[in-house]
Amino acid sequence: MSYNESIKEQEQSKKIQEMFNNIADKYDFLNGLLSFALDNNWRRNAIRLANIKPGNKVLDLACGTGDMITEIQKQHPDAVIYGADFSVNMLHISQKKLENIPFTAADAHNLPFKDNSFDRLTIAFGFRNVTDKARGLSELYRVIKQGGIVCILELTRPENKLTSFFYRLYFMHILPLIGGIFSSHKAYKYLPDSVYHFPKHKEYKKLIEDAGFKNIHFKTLVFGAVTIAVMEK
Ligand SMILES: C[S@@+](CC[C@H](N)C(=O)[O-])C[C@H]1O[C@@H](n2cnc3c(N)ncnc32)[C@H](O)[C@@H]1O
Repeated sequence: MSYNESIKEQEQSKKIQEMFNNIADKYDFLNGLLSFALDNNWRRNAIRLANIKPGNKVLDLACGTGDMITEIQKQHPDAVIYGADFSVNMLHISQKKLENIPFTAADAHNLPFKDNSFDRLTIAFGFRNVTDKARGLSELYRVIKQGGIVCILELTRPENKLTSFFYRLYFMHILPLIGGIFSSHKAYKYLPDSVYHFPKHKEYKKLIEDAGFKNIHFKTLVFGAVTIAVMEK
């Protein structure tokens, strides 16, 4: 990456961070509304695929207001869970909800954790915002233990033409409209953009492979509107 590209990317990442700080207080409400309250179901699915074992050290990265952690606790009360996010306003909310969880302010591009720290790492709806995905994936690879599993739950663009049409209608027109009614912030215009620019499965798999992961599996939900990527170090 050239010097200019890296500066542009840093600036974009800062803008995304600021955006999440701005919407933190409305995030839970809007998230449930805009996903038709299906988001917890998707999180539960992803956690099952992460195959968490008793006593595993689990990092939930881009934890936001802590919904993924709550679900992990329900399925695996014996897991040792950590939360991290680069939005301090999101972290304030999650720390209030989940007093016993250690939270860290952390950017996925440069994680403040030692090599081979975690048995499992989950990210729900956060990876799409990581501006340098190759760098983010190499950080995930670094902090996960050998044999450990990373599970990324993300909104993706359906690759089937018909589904893609309805999806576009919802994402490009209806979602920003509803989001705009409840939040004056431009975040709900950014959301469709970020999903549209997310790599398609073939390119996504290549990025994951290039970071060093093996045994990569994709599970798609809602006709490809949601993808759970599971990978092993
Ligand atoms: C859409 S929210 C998802 C929150 C939560 N995981 C959930 O399931 O509701 C995306 C989160 O990713 C965080 N995020 C985005 N880019 C990040 C980065 N580069 N490093 C760390 N956190 C990031 C944002 O601050 C935000 O809290």
